[in-house]
Amino acid sequence: MLEVKQISKVFHKNGVPFEALRDVNLEVHEREFVSIIGPSGCGKSTLFNIIAGILPPDGGSVMVQGKDVTGKTEACALMPQKDLLFPWRKVADNTILALQIAGMKKKEAREKVEPYFSIFGIDGTQELYPAQLSGGMRQRASLLRTVVQDRPVLLLDEPFGALDSMTRTELQDWLLDIWQKQKWTVILVTHDIKEAVYLSDRVYVMTPSPSRVQEVISIDLPRPRTPEITMTTEFVKYEARLKHAFGKKESSEEGNT
Ligand SMILES: Nc1ncnc2c1ncn2[C@@H]1O[C@H](COP(=O)(O)OP(=O)(O)O)[C@@H](O)[C@H]1O
Ligand SMILES: [Mg+2]
Repeated sequence: MLEVKQISKVFHKNGVPFEALRDVNLEVHEREFVSIIGPSGCGKSTLFNIIAGILPPDGGSVMVQGKDVTGKTEACALMPQKDLLFPWRKVADNTILALQIAGMKKKEAREKVEPYFSIFGIDGTQELYPAQLSGGMRQRASLLRTVVQDRPVLLLDEPFGALDSMTRTELQDWLLDIWQKQKWTVILVTHDIKEAVYLSDRVYVMTPSPSRVQEVISIDLPRPRTPEITMTTEFVKYEARLKHAFGKKESSEEGNT
């Protein structure tokens, strides 16, 4: 479904070149749930912006369904790291934003998003303002806005990062359920090892900058998954493996400085 080949990116900070990504390769199959995990500042959001076509890479390409979509925005829908619901727009009007930008008329866009509100468990919030919603509901609305774009690949950048742990757990289960039903292809960025294991088919571990893929770990746990699975030996083993991968990374970072 998605193939990211040899992506590199150099930023200039006060005129000094800063190599953020070096030869990053990534592959995601149809209906797969892949997580990317890596230390803060290693370039995860940068990689997402490149995959989403809103930031040009310095080298490499992004292929979706066999087509080169490097620098093109129509193949992937990105849910950015910050919850960017506009406070002055009603929830429903926030969720149609991307559709309107794409040229759809407001009435038509509102009709298109309407059925999603019950699927997303936020029916009744359409005419409210974002400030009237709980954090978890706001994230559902942000995800709704991303999903209605009908793109083959969903990119979710730390969607649960700012939530309290109870809401976070609840939304993880909700996402697993809806992902399975809606047959989405998802890439999720997180820095939470447990979250990565719980949700994913495979986990990409990134190194600190210049960031590369350090390791790809397949999570062969049965689905559907429920919270009980986090207590099993298999689950704990995966957690330990990922923690170990992180440890290696930190020591290699120390070695470099
Ligand atoms: N537009 C930019 N100009 C210069 N540096 C940037 C820019 N965007 C990101 N960076 C730098 O690239 C690195 C990776 O950033 P980011 O992709 O946001 O990391 P992550 O999402 O993994 O926390 C950081 O050091 C950040 O300061
Ligand atoms: Mg980020």
